[in-house]
Amino acid sequence: MRLGVNIDHVATVREARGGVPYPEPVEAALLAESGGADGITVHLRIDRRHIKERDIRILKEVVKTHLNVEASLDPEIQEFLLDVKPHWVCLVPERPGERTTEGGLDLTKVEEEARRAVDRLKERGIKVTIFVEPDAKIIEIAKRIGADAVEINTGKYAEGVPGELKRIEDAAGFAASCGLEVHGGHGLHYHNVVPVASIPEIVELNIGHSIVARAIMVGMERAVREMKNLLLGARKWNR
Ligand code: PXP
Repeated sequence: MRLGVNIDHVATVREARGGVPYPEPVEAALLAESGGADGITVHLRIDRRHIKERDIRILKEVVKTHLNVEASLDPEIQEFLLDVKPHWVCLVPERPGERTTEGGLDLTKVEEEARRAVDRLKERGIKVTIFVEPDAKIIEIAKRIGADAVEINTGKYAEGVPGELKRIEDAAGFAASCGLEVHGGHGLHYHNVVPVASIPEIVELNIGHSIVARAIMVGMERAVREMKNLLLGARKWNR
């Protein structure tokens, strides 16, 4: 089982003070790899509210595992991806103003547009995942248009929707039987991940918010101690 660590919210903290150079998402990516991440994931949103093009360009240079960029079918973003060539692109829907991705890409509505994007990305040697609901009809379309993998939305499971774990299990089995690589993600945290991680067909989970949130907690004591030591040292500082 591979763990893709989504570092978007490191950039969210940076952008909360727009213009400051920290925290640096690239540094977080390297630390995540030191901790065992098998891949680094970022979402280039149309409003560029956290991750920017420059982050992705540097990540592509320095990430030692693989770089996965979540992106909508927006033409400008697709052009950028063709240029920077991350290892994977995960096609997701995007509604302006949404707090986070709200569901899988509805391929029944955008099949042709998605097919063109998949063709162009694959021509450049980029592997393509499509973020989908656990729905056989959508997964069949993903296979038909040439995706390498599907990422099954675990968001509704995370919200506690009854029957959703079974739907994810069935969808994972179906996708694998179609020859698709099966990934999962959204809303997973330390208390709900195990049932999903135990689904045998799922080979990769992409997890972001809960890991960044936990990193703040496990790092707080040290961060305060470092600042406190500076304050104490300042008393001895010779003006
Ligand atoms: N997978 C996809 C397709 C996503 O859009 C996101 C959120 O950017 C994630 C996984 C990670 O979700 P979370 O931050 O809730 O772990």
